[in-house]
Amino acid sequence: MTYKEVLESARGQMGPCHACPVCNGRACGATIPGPGAKGSGTVAIRNFDAWRDVRLNMDTIHENFEPDTALRIFGRTFKYPFFAGPVGALALHYGDKYNDLDYNNILVPACAAAGIAAFTGDGTNPKVMEGATAAIAASGGAGIPTVKPWDNATVAQKMAMTRQSGCFALAMDIDAAGLPFLQHLDPPAGSKTVEQLQAIAKSAGVPFILKGIMTVSGAEKAVEAGAAGIVVSNHGGRVLDDCPATAEVLADIVAAVDGRAKILVDGGIRTGNDVFKALALGADAVLIARPFVTAVYGGGADGVAAYTEKLGSELADTMRLCGAPTLDAITRDMVRIIK
Ligand SMILES: Cc1cc2nc3c(=O)[nH]c(=O)nc-3n(C[C@H](O)[C@H](O)[C@H](O)COP(=O)(O)O)c2cc1C
Repeated sequence: MTYKEVLESARGQMGPCHACPVCNGRACGATIPGPGAKGSGTVAIRNFDAWRDVRLNMDTIHENFEPDTALRIFGRTFKYPFFAGPVGALALHYGDKYNDLDYNNILVPACAAAGIAAFTGDGTNPKVMEGATAAIAASGGAGIPTVKPWDNATVAQKMAMTRQSGCFALAMDIDAAGLPFLQHLDPPAGSKTVEQLQAIAKSAGVPFILKGIMTVSGAEKAVEAGAAGIVVSNHGGRVLDDCPATAEVLADIVAAVDGRAKILVDGGIRTGNDVFKALALGADAVLIARPFVTAVYGGGADGVAAYTEKLGSELADTMRLCGAPTLDAITRDMVRIIK
């Protein structure tokens, strides 16, 4: 199955999502519920556009090599330096073809089979985390459950359960404090202090990742809290309108963290070329969220395999043409930022 076929078959099956040829935030705009962005709906577009302003510096005068795209992180080795990002409340945002359990049951094993791993989302229904835990366990722990910033007792209970999956890391989307549908809920969800996060990181038992960091000061606090990794992310523009693009803030955060935590980034990353750009700006790995939803709706496990291989071959091609035989050899001078 090609990715083009995946897109064609996804069309008309994804509620308000159009399964566009390029997922750039333009057609969905401010559609929430749906895959769009909050307020003006422009932050998802900005995320996508910012990677367009990072250009690749081609240099083919070097040894002929077969690129090694393997990523070693948190004690595991993956075929590529990208993960499927967490997406929750599928039925709310993409119509009734799949609920969160169906989605994770397709995505998690398909990512593991493709040599990568999926982050799973969280929801108000406790069955979502139970299902994610089972799916990750059945895939040999190749998954990262992403717990929402509920009150401390609920976080502790959800994290204790998800650890049973054998997952190699655990995440919290701390920026979900700004999601419209998470406000005024019972159990309550919202912001957390460094001290509260320290206790959570300590109890995680596996590397703890904080997702939704957009500033140097936020990154400093995440490191102080004991995060082994951060995801530079504005939640695809879904929590705060008028944020910068993730590509705009990545390099400053990388410089400030200076190796004290792994740095992942998401938002508008759509091709292997974009993955290369993120690594050149200092990220260790990336997350890609919305296009993996399209891959599942359009082709199930085959769709996930097709999209993963498309990304991987684009990344390898870019490594060849910019002179980077391994991920570590991808350096800042291999890209140029316009503007
Ligand atoms: C419909 C939808 C649901 C999402 N649900 C979650 C979630 O449960 N947890 C989370 O951390 N991020 C969630 N996200 C954010 C994504 O993980 C990701 O940060 C964002 O979409 C940017 O990546 P992208 O541009 O590749 O989609 C969601 C995004 C969308 C569009």
